[in-house]
Amino acid sequence: MYKMTMKKVTWKSLMLSCYKNNNNSSDSGEKILKPCQFQRLSLTDVSDPSSALSVDDLSTSLLGSYLHVFTFSELRVITHNFARCNLLGEGGFGPVYKGFIDDKLRPGLKAQPVAVKALDLDGLQGHREWLAEIIFLGQLRHPHLVKLIGYCYEKENRLLVYEYMPRGSLENQLFRRYSAALPWSTRMKIALGAAKGLAFLHEADKPVIYRDFKSSNILLDSDYNCKLSDFGLAKDGPEGEETHVTTRVMGTQGYAAPEYIMTGHLTTMSDVYSFGVVLLELLTGKRSMDNTRPSREQSLVEWARPLLRDPNKLDRLIDLRLEGQFSSKGAQRVAALAYKSLSHRPKQRPTMGDVVKILESLQGFEDEFVGPFVYVVPSETDDSKEFLAKKESKTNEQEKDCSGENGHNPLGRRWRNRIKLPLSSVANSESPCSMSV
Ligand SMILES: Nc1ncnc2c1ncn2[C@@H]1O[C@H](COP(=O)(O)OP(=O)(O)OP(=O)(O)O)[C@@H](O)[C@H]1O
Ligand SMILES: [Mg+2]
Repeated sequence: MYKMTMKKVTWKSLMLSCYKNNNNSSDSGEKILKPCQFQRLSLTDVSDPSSALSVDDLSTSLLGSYLHVFTFSELRVITHNFARCNLLGEGGFGPVYKGFIDDKLRPGLKAQPVAVKALDLDGLQGHREWLAEIIFLGQLRHPHLVKLIGYCYEKENRLLVYEYMPRGSLENQLFRRYSAALPWSTRMKIALGAAKGLAFLHEADKPVIYRDFKSSNILLDSDYNCKLSDFGLAKDGPEGEETHVTTRVMGTQGYAAPEYIMTGHLTTMSDVYSFGVVLLELLTGKRSMDNTRPSREQSLVEWARPLLRDPNKLDRLIDLRLEGQFSSKGAQRVAALAYKSLSHRPKQRPTMGDVVKILESLQGFEDEFVGPFVYVVPSETDDSKEFLAKKESKTNEQEKDCSGENGHNPLGRRWRNRIKLPLSSVANSESPCSMSV
């Protein structure tokens, strides 16, 4: 009993002193809170069976007092019993619903819309990812990271409550057909914001590797300010003399760095590779993986890599939906940056700090009319086919009630392959399974 109390006090004081104000502020003027060295609690502190801390302690720690601990019935009320028309989307970990909180629910709660993610508890990993989200997002605050407001942990129910991002994910916005395309300047703004979020994680005194950087994890507010979400796969970076973390290979096909898939060696440069893939998606308007494209074009990186090197081939890469409205100089620099970020040699990739500087220099580049726009009739293999198929599968009622508020398309989830390789299948692995968190 005495030991537990001591441990809790230590944890509390750890957390209380966990933030130092760097007097940094973002574009939006929000303060950036940077975690101090060695003080941020790591996932293993809670998930390690030998640790005296357990998930139940979350509610009595500082985490609990600054994150709200909601009951399941409260979350049921705010989402109208998880009504289908409040469904914002569904990822690998479960459905996400819109809700609304205010001080009628809890005194002191700021009135605001929220997104409630309910985890499908499919084995241990689901629980770990839920916990990782709380441990990382509960301690890291930055204008380009989504704000975790609270969580629910009740019997088998594990839910997370986030600030609501009105424009949904970049994936929804970028690949949504039959609506205006995202302008070039907006794409550059999003690229810069996302780069700042990643740079913040990498440059923390105790660096964090995000491990799941992709367009569906970049959320947008009404002004297209972006925030990274989904810290379920995040890992503490290497410490001391270590150059990498060896871990089980997890992530999303089409975004994960090749050396990480091959060796299980994870570094901040693995995130830089994934950033390069998203940059390529912004440039081309094409998804990182698409099995409806001809076989040689299914992997965006493999198809685009040879074109990225040659400025004369930019017109084959650039998103036709921009209708020629983009800065050609800006696009050339973005192509060069994507090429470098996607290098097979991790050491040749730029750091996220470098990427931020380059993208900052491209923000002033105005959209310009580069050339005549040629309308290309979508072929049978294009999204038109997918669109028709989706349309058929919707009921009239669903169309009426849930017709994609602000780009959310809860019913239009595409094929996406999660990677989850056991550590034993990783070549040259140096780590025992117990290290994989
Ligand atoms: N905070 C939020 N505000 C608004 N919409 C959100 C929020 N969080 C998630 N969403 C919506 O819910 C969808 C599903 O999100 P989720 O993170 O669960 O899965 P995903 O990223 O699409 O897929 P994956 O499981 O492969 O990561 C998002 O694409 C987005 O449209
Ligand atoms: Mg996500």
